[in-house]
Amino acid sequence: MELSDILLWRYATKAMNGQKVNSDKIERILDAIRYAPTSNGLQPFEIIVISNNELREKLQPVINNQQVVTGSSHLIIFAAWDNVTPERVNRVFDQVVAERGNSQGLVDYRQFLLMKHTEQTTDDNFNHAARQAYIGLGFGLIAAANEMVDATPMEGFDPLAVDKELGLPAKGLRSVAMMAVGYRDAENDWLVNLKKVRRPVADFVTVLK
Ligand SMILES: Cc1cc2nc3c(=O)[nH]c(=O)nc-3n(C[C@H](O)[C@H](O)[C@H](O)COP(=O)(O)O)c2cc1C
Repeated sequence: MELSDILLWRYATKAMNGQKVNSDKIERILDAIRYAPTSNGLQPFEIIVISNNELREKLQPVINNQQVVTGSSHLIIFAAWDNVTPERVNRVFDQVVAERGNSQGLVDYRQFLLMKHTEQTTDDNFNHAARQAYIGLGFGLIAAANEMVDATPMEGFDPLAVDKELGLPAKGLRSVAMMAVGYRDAENDWLVNLKKVRRPVADFVTVLK
């Protein structure tokens, strides 16, 4: 399928049938998320993948009881850094130096970012990290559709409760979004046959000449 067809095929699936997605497909979806671009290449978020049924059942109440939490094959949680600390910035730059070699440009760039994220508030740093996580979510949604795997992006959950259940505060992480992946339950999904609705191009795109 062409990308344009894939984008029309995917939809925010409301009911999944419990069928498991094979591990090769899951790996490719996770790789697409890992290869998503992020501001300054910091990748300031992590991914938590839950296929365990009991854990997903336990989490479902704090994810607004959404059916896809348990109907899916895997639940992928996007957890942003709670702050962009010097340790985190240095770790990324140390890896770049190890893999590409150092340069004066890189030394200056590291200092600039260390300064920038120290001057910004923790909230600003977290919000910046969360925006990068959403880029990963977008890549993940397209990658899933490319595998003909259904996916539901989700913000409808109680982040504090999810964080507590998964022990995220101890890791300096905060959940910001989720993606359930699996296969549609066409008989029980009210959305499956509805037309995809989008604002018309003329109302959405301004072309400046
Ligand atoms: C960040 C984000 C959060 C969303 N949260 C939920 C959610 O919690 N539950 C849900 O069923 N759909 C959720 N959606 C799905 C949207 O409602 C859906 O993507 C939108 O209506 C467009 O429809 P489509 O994805 O089927 O094309 C979310 C989508 C995004 C991008």
